[in-house]
Amino acid sequence: MTAGSVLVTGGAGFIGSAFVRLLLERDPSVRVVNLDALTYAGSLANLADLPDPGRHEFVHGDVCDGPLVTDVLRRHDVVTIVHFAAESHVDRSIAGPAPFLRTNVIGTLTLLEAARAAWLEEGVSPGPRRFHHVSTDEVFGSLRPDDPPCHEETPYDPSSPYAASKAASDHLVRAYARTYGLPVTLTNCSNNYGPRQFPEKLIPLVILNALEGRPLPIYGDGGNVRDWLFVTDHCEAVLEVLRRGRPGATYHVGGGNQPTNLDVVRRLCAILDDRLPRSPHVPHERLITFVEDRPGHDRRYALDASRIRDELGWSPRHSLDGGLRATVDWYLENGGWLREIRERPEYREWMTQNYGRRRDARDDERGARPPVGVREPAAGV
Ligand code: NAD
Ligand code: TYD
Repeated sequence: MTAGSVLVTGGAGFIGSAFVRLLLERDPSVRVVNLDALTYAGSLANLADLPDPGRHEFVHGDVCDGPLVTDVLRRHDVVTIVHFAAESHVDRSIAGPAPFLRTNVIGTLTLLEAARAAWLEEGVSPGPRRFHHVSTDEVFGSLRPDDPPCHEETPYDPSSPYAASKAASDHLVRAYARTYGLPVTLTNCSNNYGPRQFPEKLIPLVILNALEGRPLPIYGDGGNVRDWLFVTDHCEAVLEVLRRGRPGATYHVGGGNQPTNLDVVRRLCAILDDRLPRSPHVPHERLITFVEDRPGHDRRYALDASRIRDELGWSPRHSLDGGLRATVDWYLENGGWLREIRERPEYREWMTQNYGRRRDARDDERGARPPVGVREPAAGV
């Protein structure tokens, strides 16, 4: 990376905030501008205790706001853009796709246009610049059990509105590289987990519900497979791509593991049993509840990450068990962070909307139960 600022979009969210923290730690000369709309998923609490906060400036704003983005690029002499900002939750995209199209597609287009104007159209040599786009393995759709992992040339086949919107944004980024010569890189990463993940995604939701003695909702039969990666491993991969990645290239970033959702939830329960032996909810596995499946639920994701390993020497530092233990410990030590989100009316509304309509799959056998996820907690965090 060169002199000038790095613009991180979505830097108050789960992965973006971890990336801002890592960037400030690893590069003592970097200046970071963090543009985030602070949707339900973003929080300034995620940016507490940044190392050397004087080199970080937060801008509260929307990536769809063209004049604002243009002003940020010029005022801060932005030479690198790392684009995390997105609507990111598949279940929310099923409930209402429009915000996903707006932020993920129009927001990316707005940033690309602003970068093109600032970097390519001023008649001066732009010097080294980089637009890095953060994407997902979900653009490839569902794999069968014996399918090989997706590589960087596997055709896109998205299933959910979220995945379709990310696929569209990836295509736009590549189109700007081919058409206008914008210096871009992309990463497609597998499922992240770790500190500060919003507790409507599987792992933090299970931890929060388990602490409160509430049902742990497993969609379908729990046999869906994800390739889980600890969040700082993802952030290190993005840093490596910025430093040494080939302009124009895409890199797959994955953890190389293939547990089922049920396996992940059982491992979390075992860690919680170990950490909280006196909890009234031990064994936490008893809380596991199978609920109606997600429509269009992709059965399996898997990425071939050999390009980033061979070209850039990246590989994940965390094993799944070590990463899950670190994650549980972070949530246990940061009850205040969780409580603040749990108390928000819009969080409770989402829990009711998403889980209230999902019947416990065993209701037919034993009579109606209250909807999962919205029962009154048995104990506080
Ligand atoms: P997140 O939902 O936790 O955070 C998204 C952030 O973007 C929030 O801070 C939010 O306020 C901000 N944002 C949303 N709309 C915005 C807008 N219009 N303008 C400005 N800011 C806006 O998401 P995350 O899990 O941290 O994911 C970050 C990126 O990584 C996304 O692009 C996602 O597609 C990608 N990704 C995520 C995963 C994962 O497992 N979480 C895996 C692979 C790729
Ligand atoms: P999620 O964390 O929403 O990530 P993604 O859909 O992007 O992979 O879900 C991870 C997996 O866990 C996915 O297969 C859906 C499943 N899941 C449940 O079984 N129960 C839940 O309550 C949630 C939120 C997810």
